[in-house]
Amino acid sequence: MAKQFKPETLCVQAGWTPKKGEPRVLPIYQSTTFKYDTSEQMARLFDLEDSGYFYTRLQNPTNDAVAAKIAALEGGVAAMLTSSGQAANFYAIFNICQAGDHFVCSSAIYGGTFNLFGVTMKKLGIDVTFVNPDASEEEISAAFKPNTKALFGETISNPSLEVLDIEKFARIAHSHGVPLIVDNTFPTPINCRPFEWGADIVVHSTTKYMDGHATSVGGCIVDSGNFDWDAHAEKFPGLCTPDESYHGLTYTKAFGKGAYITKATAQLMRDLGSIQSPQNSFLLNLGLETLHLRMPQHCRNAQKVAEYLSKNEKVAWVNYCGLPDNKYYSLAQKYMPNGSCGVISFGLKGGRDVSIKFMDSLEFIAIVTHVADARSCVLHPASHTHRQLTDEQLMEAGVRPDLIRLSVGIENADDIIADIEQALNA
Ligand SMILES: Cc1ncc(COP(=O)(O)O)c(C=O)c1O
Repeated sequence: MAKQFKPETLCVQAGWTPKKGEPRVLPIYQSTTFKYDTSEQMARLFDLEDSGYFYTRLQNPTNDAVAAKIAALEGGVAAMLTSSGQAANFYAIFNICQAGDHFVCSSAIYGGTFNLFGVTMKKLGIDVTFVNPDASEEEISAAFKPNTKALFGETISNPSLEVLDIEKFARIAHSHGVPLIVDNTFPTPINCRPFEWGADIVVHSTTKYMDGHATSVGGCIVDSGNFDWDAHAEKFPGLCTPDESYHGLTYTKAFGKGAYITKATAQLMRDLGSIQSPQNSFLLNLGLETLHLRMPQHCRNAQKVAEYLSKNEKVAWVNYCGLPDNKYYSLAQKYMPNGSCGVISFGLKGGRDVSIKFMDSLEFIAIVTHVADARSCVLHPASHTHRQLTDEQLMEAGVRPDLIRLSVGIENADDIIADIEQALNA
């Protein structure tokens, strides 16, 4: 679908354009495999000489339609769905880093990503240096080494809600000849399009607002097509030199701007296989069809709730970048003028124990691990998602031990506030 359409139209229409007599709604291609007439036809697919489907671990039409919609929303050239956001983050790095390589990463990121990068990928021989995203360009640059292959950050970090200065990060990455990879899960492309600010690759946990209904775990990697891999060929041999597992094909030569996603699909997905099931991507697509309606409602409600909390005497502190006194207010206004996301964090006077009592007293706002759902929900990261981190690591990731993460849903704001109020009074 042509790129000139506005996001609202892309949410509804992009990805699936039925021809005469085909289903109006994106079908679920619930098939592991696809039929060909001759052996030669299939052989050409295996050599990447023709494009087409042969096995769902590599590509599936339902998944491809949804990936194309997300690519269009982000303004990218190509995208690949994955089984989860974790898989998307792993593949995004592993596509350009191998044992002996290094990357630099903002310390303000989701706890699962922190663990993936800081522990599991280290076991594979890929080293990471975490940096304070608010540090100066010189300080962040000092973390780069000759074997550094990428810079990574989250547009709005989960759960510390720090806003990434994308332009600053892009400048730093490009001055070292590496791409900037941005996890854009929280704002979604409805509120922020990191490619417009210089990011090269965008990743998503589609599990969150994109699905929006808490039905399907999934992820996505989108390539802007803007990073010139060949200009830094010595850093990216996987993309710029022949792949022996594909008969000596060189991805940048054969696929141009599609090189990064083609390699991720043809090589990583082939070998590691973390695909999104077509059933899940069908549900994800239904979520995407209303993303442009849900995001503004999440943001309006979160703004009202944040304002309410910031005036309540039982509340010790509130962190929401839509509040004018927030440290990240001006960055949020720059990168997300129409609203950021529906997630707020706050602490109560009395600390950790009072926070837990408050959460236990909520009525319809549910305690769940999830975030960015149509239904309001709440979590205490220090006891739940981030419990594997030490207190020092918690503070480094911007997570205070008393922090309550409130994911404001799309219900009526007055009802959400009333539930919070009765729990505060309890
Ligand atoms: C910003 C961010 N990135 C990645 C992930 C991981 O995604 P998933 O749970 O889909 O694996 C999460 C999960 O909460 C997240 O919040």
